[in-house]
Amino acid sequence: MANEPTITTLLKEGRTFKPSAAFAKAAHVGSAKAWEALRKAAAKDPVRFWEARARELRWEKPWSKALDWKFPFAKWFVGGKLNASVNCLDRHLDGPRANKAALIWEGEPGDTRTLTYRQLHREVCVFANALTALGVKAGDRVAVYMPMVPEAAVAMLAIARLGAAHSVVFAGFSSEALRDRILDADARFVVTADGGWRKGAVVPLKAAVDEALAQCPAVQKVVVLRRTGQGVSMKEGRDVWWHDAAAGMPARHRAAAHDAENPLFILYTSGSTGKPKGVLHTTGGYLTHAAYTCRLVFDLKEDDVFWCTADVGWVTGHSYVVYGPLANGATVLMYEGAPMTPGPDRFWEMIARHRVTVFYTAPTAIRAFVRLGAGHPDRHDLSSLRLLGTVGEPINPEAWLWYHKTIGGGRCPIVDTWWQTETGGIMISPLPGATPAKPGSATKPLPGIEAAVVDRQGRPAAKGAGGLLVVRRPWPGMLRTIYGAPERYREQYFSQVPGCYFTGDGARLDADGYFWVLGRVDDVINVAGHRLSTMEIESALVGHPKVAEAAVVGHPDDLKGQGITAFVTLQSGAAAGPDVVDELKGAVAKAIGAIARPDRIRFADALPKTRSGKIMRRLLRDVAAGVESKGDTTTLEDFSALARLRAPQEE
Ligand code: PRX
Repeated sequence: MANEPTITTLLKEGRTFKPSAAFAKAAHVGSAKAWEALRKAAAKDPVRFWEARARELRWEKPWSKALDWKFPFAKWFVGGKLNASVNCLDRHLDGPRANKAALIWEGEPGDTRTLTYRQLHREVCVFANALTALGVKAGDRVAVYMPMVPEAAVAMLAIARLGAAHSVVFAGFSSEALRDRILDADARFVVTADGGWRKGAVVPLKAAVDEALAQCPAVQKVVVLRRTGQGVSMKEGRDVWWHDAAAGMPARHRAAAHDAENPLFILYTSGSTGKPKGVLHTTGGYLTHAAYTCRLVFDLKEDDVFWCTADVGWVTGHSYVVYGPLANGATVLMYEGAPMTPGPDRFWEMIARHRVTVFYTAPTAIRAFVRLGAGHPDRHDLSSLRLLGTVGEPINPEAWLWYHKTIGGGRCPIVDTWWQTETGGIMISPLPGATPAKPGSATKPLPGIEAAVVDRQGRPAAKGAGGLLVVRRPWPGMLRTIYGAPERYREQYFSQVPGCYFTGDGARLDADGYFWVLGRVDDVINVAGHRLSTMEIESALVGHPKVAEAAVVGHPDDLKGQGITAFVTLQSGAAAGPDVVDELKGAVAKAIGAIARPDRIRFADALPKTRSGKIMRRLLRDVAAGVESKGDTTTLEDFSALARLRAPQEE
């Protein structure tokens, strides 16, 4: 790559990238001094700092207590009442934002729609009335299984408006994954579409819903948006078309105020066990955090066109496609389809056409673009861009530099934002007008966030040494619990490092106090920025009649960050072969979704285990990565199992 000499020097020199004077001058936080003042104020009295952020929202009733912290359960803005949908819509209607674009949407086939704040408000009110007529009430859970169309945001905001909680399930998940999430949340309503466009083909969503609901008898109503127009079956009494449900509904809706701690949404994510966790976020704290971080990290201005490429099925889509930007009255670009459809320059062509100013995407996408070369972006006018962002996994310096030079023209700061489904919003990130960036580092915790790198006892790790990434104090956007499993919440996040929220990530602090996130230290792998539990994939494999035992690990992958290797021992009598490989890959895709499909399946007659029978994943990770194991192998029961695995295999 042409950049290589620069990277070497950069890593040697520890070069930093400062925002230009012009960028800093116009930024909300435009100097190291301003940043430090903010950090100091927040450190002195964090609760007061967050109260000031919360006051930037519209409250129908003020809170009586800002933080109620009974370790490990937090309540923020107790006694306060607000409506998330009103904060994202109604409060922008009094002034010039009323006729400003809230959503600029583009479908994969090229169809476009723009909704002003007034129009989006109207759609949300109509749909809130439609949902009410169908029986949705405050306190209910509503599953949303939608393509990236404006109605996905409309559904979320309408559900929130009613004080019900949405559980958005990524449309790439399989019907079985959808079924499990509907059952776990006890959702009685589902909002979906006939299908969505992806890579030039229709993803049949309603068919997947039908399959899932065969085992969800409690679901009362399914609202179906007509998007692709293909034939679907509608079950009498249960299924209703969106346009029929909305027909004749008033465009006004008086929104009730809800408790700050009223659940806003559940979002399922993978942990280190086989069962996905329903991460629960509530209204006041989450919205405060999403709005604050969106404004400061993306330095949002009135005339920005903000494009976050995440799907609403992930937390990034919740916080930075819907709630964060809309709470700030910003203009959001929303895109339905795949980044390379119909051609490899779709993103760049869209940036040029919509004059996007702030662009936020994932390192895996950037690496894919690096491979395709600079020719594609160079053909388009990207001069509207002023700020770039990344999220989902550590970004390698090569990709960072390419992004900076080829997409940002060398003039756009890059915000590398570290956060999680559980944190609700960004936690560690540069403020683009103030923080000098180091490629590959998410830099420093935002003011108000007390993140640290510690050992198992919670003692600070030495500068330069690795440790566990924790957060020492509660913050407004933190998850409140795992839905229906408060003990699991305590165990998962608050039992590993005394007194701290444990993120599951390892990190290192450098001499300047910059955080370098090293990745997961638990049984979670990060494939193309998406979290997958190795145990969840293993249980899908073991569910196959030919499989006796399975162990899944991540292996390094240039494009996806990590790929998935599955080590499988078959039942006696079953023979390994390409057909079985396909069958097993298919079984995982069916149970979870195509994103979890293993890249490699390796058959073994035995897996390396300790004498007590625990699979030694560390060794398997080394085998998958093709490196020698350095660590202790003395507990290994059968050395030959490892040697056989190392031997070259056909896949
Ligand atoms: O390992 C970290 C990685 O993604 C995990 C969170 O995944 P998820 O809940 O799916 O949310 C992704 C989008 C917020 C983290 O535990 N991660 C996320 N952002 C970064 C990151 N790793 C390094 N640098 C980042 N900027």
